[in-house]
Amino acid sequence: MKHWSRREFLRFMGRTAGATAVALPVLSCSDRGSAAGIAGIAPGTEDEVVLAGGLEYELLVSWGDPINGRGDRFGFNNDYTAFFPIDGNPHDGLLWVNHEEVLSGYFSSPRDPADKSRQDVDQEMTEVGGSIVRIRMSDGHWRLVPDDRYNRRIDATTPIPIGSAEPVAGAREAIGTLGNCAGGVTPWRTVLTCEENFHFFYGDVRFENGRRIHEKDTLIGWDRYLDYPPEHYGWVVEIDPFTGAANKLTTLGRFAHEGATVILARDGRPVVYMGDDKTDEHIYKFVGDEPGLLAQGTLYAADTERGRWLPLSLDRDKRLAQAFSTQTELLIRTREAAKLAGASPQDRPEDIEIDPHSGAVLIALTKHPLRPYGSILRLAEKDNDPAAEEFVANTFLAGGTENGFACPDNLVFDPRGNLWLCTDIASHELSGLLYAPFKNNGLFHIPMSGPHAGVPVQVASAPPGAEFTGPTFSPDGRTLFLSVQHPGENSGSTDALSSHWPDGGASLPRPGVICISGPLLDELTAA
Ligand code: FEO
Ligand code: CA
Ligand code: CA
Repeated sequence: MKHWSRREFLRFMGRTAGATAVALPVLSCSDRGSAAGIAGIAPGTEDEVVLAGGLEYELLVSWGDPINGRGDRFGFNNDYTAFFPIDGNPHDGLLWVNHEEVLSGYFSSPRDPADKSRQDVDQEMTEVGGSIVRIRMSDGHWRLVPDDRYNRRIDATTPIPIGSAEPVAGAREAIGTLGNCAGGVTPWRTVLTCEENFHFFYGDVRFENGRRIHEKDTLIGWDRYLDYPPEHYGWVVEIDPFTGAANKLTTLGRFAHEGATVILARDGRPVVYMGDDKTDEHIYKFVGDEPGLLAQGTLYAADTERGRWLPLSLDRDKRLAQAFSTQTELLIRTREAAKLAGASPQDRPEDIEIDPHSGAVLIALTKHPLRPYGSILRLAEKDNDPAAEEFVANTFLAGGTENGFACPDNLVFDPRGNLWLCTDIASHELSGLLYAPFKNNGLFHIPMSGPHAGVPVQVASAPPGAEFTGPTFSPDGRTLFLSVQHPGENSGSTDALSSHWPDGGASLPRPGVICISGPLLDELTAA
């Protein structure tokens, strides 16, 4: 076996990246702007949100900020964001923000679950889920509207109905939502918030010869005090931000849901693209039976080798009908069903976005032990029909030193149809040999047409230990809302913090949502 030096390895990875990149076909996209001549930034290690010239940021809201007069506070580790204008006003609306995990340890409560008190767990349960806050622009600045009647929290203590044909683990209601990573917005103005690493909280279940085995997980370990069934988590939760009404959508399957991207089929039925962010797990699609409804429809898993969507339905697959007694049982055990149906293993699918010009579905595959820099998969549905059962898939862009990014995670298209990408190199690997050239995680702009099509340019660098998540453009394209999640996560201890963002000095770091704006953003994205 050949043993490679670091230089040889990086050179190889860079060449591989270049060789596998697939140029996009030229579409009717002259309106995207050429985006020529952007001066990006070099990767860096500064304890700051470093931006390309022509961009600036302001902190909108951060961990612990009061959001209303009822004692609710902005939660921890903010991730996905979604903006809902009120009365069509692009400068006044509700911002939904996911709160993914508690970072036990020096930020919230004891790092070792064995040391947590019930009071610690009670506190942590208010840190995850989501926040709904009203924000408004005045004098050119976005501000939280304090104590607005819409401002509320939904967290791990909120009772949430489970929408399913039969009870799930004996119940039709779950206590709380957690692990809320990315998400999506429906055309009928609800948010889909995705329960990703749900097993960290109450563990998970597996089934052997008809026996249900509850496997505990010690990372966060709430099951030390609470016996909520793991089957109540790992779903997509639909929430009306204007009323707070929530519902767990079992039709969309149960797995480590990263996000849920909604588009309408030609006949108006909703189609939802989803990824299961775990090594060798799968890409999924849901096609609703009726417009405006996610409670009934068909869940598919992707066979990316043969370009087929495989229906996970007792009615359409005899193997599944033999393995599961009801569709609800199948949905609880979605991963098993996908494997039985022949779904392809993937390199940890993260965010998914749909190119507004070509209709192509872009899927961030963050990494795999054998492909540590990740890639972006491009999936083109047959006849460009989101409800199709056949597609063609190929690599759109590979991570690596040649393209300047590694571990793609969140994606967003701006109002002109160009792509933005956030990277998520795991905080404990940021300074490791493999990822050293990329330095802190970043935000990249990727033109989709013109002479620089498909060439990523880094435009922001996150504080140490952090990743950027939840990018959302304001309707006019002049503001990019962006989460700064887990700054300082790679700190050794409170005495050796890697970040003090955003307050500086000797302060503890705090996750928060920033607003990026400026002449460069106007040039690149203004609608
Ligand atoms: Fe929460 Fe897969 O990122
Ligand atoms: Ca993510
Ligand atoms: Ca996204």
